[in-house]
Parts: sequence; structure tokens; C-alpha cells
Amino acid sequence: MAKRMLDKQKWGWWRSAVFYQIYPKSFQDTTGSGVGDLRGIISRLDYLEELGIDGIWLSPVCESPQVDNGYDISDYCAVDPMFGTMEDMQTLITEAKKRGISIIVDLVLNHSSDQHRWFREALKSRDNPYHDYYVWRDGDASRPPNEMRAVFGGSAWTWVPHLGQWYLHQFAEQQPDLNWENPAMRRELYGFIRFWVDLGVEGFRLDVIDQIAKDPELQVTNNGPRLHEFLRELSAEAFREEGLVSVGEAWGADTERAKLYSAPDASEMSMVFQFEHICLDQEPGKDKWDVIPLSLPKLKDCFRRWQEELHGKGWNSLFFNNHDLPRIVSRWGNDGEYRVESAKMLATMLHGMEGTPYIFQGEELGMTNIRLELEDHVDIETLNVYRERVAQGYDPEDVMASIRARSRDNARTPMQWTAGENAGFTTGTPWIPVNPNHSFINAEAALADPDSVFHHYQKLIGLRKTYDVFRDGSFSLLCPDDEKIFAYTRDTEHEHLLVVCNFTGESLYFDAPANFRGAKQILSNYATEAPELRPYEAVMLWYNDLERNENR
Ligand code: GLC
Repeated sequence: MAKRMLDKQKWGWWRSAVFYQIYPKSFQDTTGSGVGDLRGIISRLDYLEELGIDGIWLSPVCESPQVDNGYDISDYCAVDPMFGTMEDMQTLITEAKKRGISIIVDLVLNHSSDQHRWFREALKSRDNPYHDYYVWRDGDASRPPNEMRAVFGGSAWTWVPHLGQWYLHQFAEQQPDLNWENPAMRRELYGFIRFWVDLGVEGFRLDVIDQIAKDPELQVTNNGPRLHEFLRELSAEAFREEGLVSVGEAWGADTERAKLYSAPDASEMSMVFQFEHICLDQEPGKDKWDVIPLSLPKLKDCFRRWQEELHGKGWNSLFFNNHDLPRIVSRWGNDGEYRVESAKMLATMLHGMEGTPYIFQGEELGMTNIRLELEDHVDIETLNVYRERVAQGYDPEDVMASIRARSRDNARTPMQWTAGENAGFTTGTPWIPVNPNHSFINAEAALADPDSVFHHYQKLIGLRKTYDVFRDGSFSLLCPDDEKIFAYTRDTEHEHLLVVCNFTGESLYFDAPANFRGAKQILSNYATEAPELRPYEAVMLWYNDLERNENR
């Protein structure tokens, strides 16, 4: 399928685009270090061009002590030597652009590394100019300012004896929170952003952006009182460049907030990553390690709400996977007998919706979770939850079961390029184990097989560029209470799309709405047609009523 290039000078180009997330550490190593690098990404641009994507969201490559795999930045304007040089970055941007691919970089603006020059200065004394770049509270060593917990476990406060103060860190203690109340700090951040714009990047992913504005009591840090004010300033100061795309990670977003974040007037951001759908298979009020089975009617209702409420008023991003989430085919599909069918079904369900789809590296191959022993895990969050839960008296076997279902390391195993040694990822020792199933799940095999998951994603990307209804159509959910089938339509004045997905390993019957009788089947994950919906079958039917009338 020929690639239809998007006009990136036009505002809103990203509404027709499909993005691909690269986790550089695990993508492609060219030096034998066991860690992926920028040259590795450059060497795989042809593969990404063939897939048809329009942009790459690159997880952080800035200088970092790597306590949280680069989400702890010690220099915002330097490439970590582990990944290469600034020249490599420049080459990547140029080479990607030649292929119609924009580079979107990750901005971690809520916190820095404790090794950042600012924090080292801040630690020197209370009256150092950089001290106020972070969030401090006076007190005594015996009692943190409040009960707030860090996302990675333990208190969100760390005591600094020589200052007689606590500093806030919503994540690891090596990730001190930045103080957005300080205008000088904000101005310096905007300077860093301009540096990347000048280098040629065409947008940003904003890490935990709804946590930047801390409320003065510091009990809750999501959606602080000045959040939208800060976002509007950030947008005006840093993204005003024509066509720049921005996507904010917002775990605390509901549809009302998302409409502000992604309002069509571009006053804040282009779109938002919300996580309501992702949290549906955890016990309400508990955390992600408390796994419960997914209820399909709840999932459908959640998507319905986001689709309906943002239509014309905001913009969704569509995703199941990223570097923080387990692999979707293992989570809501079937990573055994129906791996290929269910991976394609899930992709079909998601890519038919309104919003900008994001594919996480390896998702287009149907890569699965990995079964690791505790000692093979690397992720700080995973290691901490094991320690905490076992200390609280949980059964270690149960904790390991949650870790296998939910650990972020599931997403971070090396990209599977070939069936060969280390999946063609590295000639050295990979920093995290390679999934043994690379013997049959790998890019080389997928490219050679016209029915592979890869080619299904390629078709979905092509369809989004062919039919405007993917971008513009309004969404209507069908059979909301059905526990096995996810079906919906998208409609513009003349174009109509029907998406039907079987979420089970059973054959089922589905009555398509009458107006779709005789519609064109534009996609299916089975080679033949059948009267019933086979296990994990997914189909897309489409028609244009103007064409239909002409043929009468
Ligand atoms: C975001 C990132 C995650 C990181 C955290 C702290 O949620 O996606 O990987 O650990 O922020 O920066």
C-alpha cells in the first residue's frame, strides 16, 4: 500500500496520523553493549516506514543515571552516551523526516534526577537560588510532612539532615519534584524545549503532566489548582511553533479535564493519554497489582464515554500498550492458541475509533508478556512492590503472579527482530532477558508472512489514510451489554463504518445493522468469510451512501 504523506504544515495533521513508541533501551543495539542506541533506531527506519507510521514517540534519551530508565534526567540538553551523541540524534531526525516520520521526544518536566545540576545546587543551602526549584517542607527527621506515598513505594518525602528539610518526590527518591510555582524554573524548562524544537523535533510527549501543579497542602498532586494555567503558559511559550504536536500523560484525567487539555483551540495540548480503560481490570480503589478479570461491558462503556464526550470538543489518543503496561495480547487477548487472531482483533477494535493511535514497539508483532524470575526483573517499581507486599504479609507466590501479569518489564524486553541469537537485538548480553518466543515471534518472520500481525497493522494504518470516517466519524456503541462482542459504528454525513470484534475463543452470532447489508468488507483477521464470528474474529465493513445511490 502506498503511503499517503500528511501535510505537517497544517494544524491538526496528527489527527490523521499513527504514532509508534520506541523504548530506545530495548529497540536495537549496534555496539554490543546490550543496550539499544540511536544508531540502532536509524538502522530500523525502513522497517517503520514500511509499517506506515507518521511519527515516533521516543522515550527519554537524555543524560540520566537510569534509576528509572531515563525518566530521571540529569541534563535536558544532552544525549546519554549510552544511546550515542547529539549528532546521532540529528541524523535520526533528518533520516526519519526523509521517510515522512516525525520525531516526538519525551519531556519529563515534573521531576529531574537528583544528579541534575539544579538539585546538587539546591542541596547546598536553603538560600541557594536553585533551592526553590524543588519542593521542600521544614520539619523534623522523625515525621514526614504528611502521609503521601511515592508511586514506586515508601514515603513521598526524603529527609535532608544538613538542611533540616524534607523534599518531595512522587516517584523514586532520586526523582525530586520540580517546583512549578517558581517562574524562573519554568522559564528554564521552556528554554530546554526550544532547544529540541531548534534541533528539528516535531512534538512532545509530556510525562505525568497532570502532576506538575502541586496543591499547597500537598495531599494530592494530580490536577493541582494551577495546572491549566501552567499548561497554557507552557503551550504559549514552547509549542507555538506551527504544527507541533503535544500529548500529555494524565493518569488523573476524566473526560471533563481531557476536554480542557485537548481543546481544539490548542491552548493546552493536542491530545491526552488517559488511563481509565487501562485501570478497569484492577480492584476498584486498589492498585494495579490487584488484578481482576476484565468486564467487557465496562470496557465498552468507558470507550463510549470518551468517544462521545470528546467528539468535536477534544481529541483522544488510542493505546493499549506503552513501556509501563503489560502486553495487551497477554492481557485481554489470548497469547496461546489465538495469539495472532486476538492481537489483530484488539488492534482493529482500537484503530477503528476516533483519536490518534499509538503502537508500542513489538505490538505490531503480537509480542507477549514474559515469565521472569524475581531476580531477572530490573524495574524499580516491580522490585519495590515485591519487597513491600511480602513485608506486609502477602503470599510471595501471589505477588509473583501479579508481577507476571502487570510488571512494566513485560513491555521492556528487547524487540524481537529475528529468530537468531538475542532476537537480533544485540551481539552482547541484553540488559534484560529476551523473550524465548522470539523463535517464532519476530519481525523477519512477520515481514515474510502476508497474514502476520505486522501486515494487519499496516492495513489499519493505510485505512486511516484512505477513509475520512476514521478521523471524523461520530461513534455509536452497539449491543452495550453483550459480554463477548465489542461492536460500534462510526458515521459521517455519507461514510459509514462498522467494527465488530469477538473478544472470546468461541464462535458467536452477530446481526449487523441492516444498513450495512452489502457494505464492503475493508478488513478482517480471517482469510475467508463465514456466517458466524469465529474465535477472536474482527471485521470492518464500510460504505459511502453517495456511491451506493449512484450504483442503484
Ligand atoms: C511516567 C513514565 C514512567 C515513569 C514515571 C516517572 O509514568 O511513563 O515510565 O516511571 O512517569 O517519570
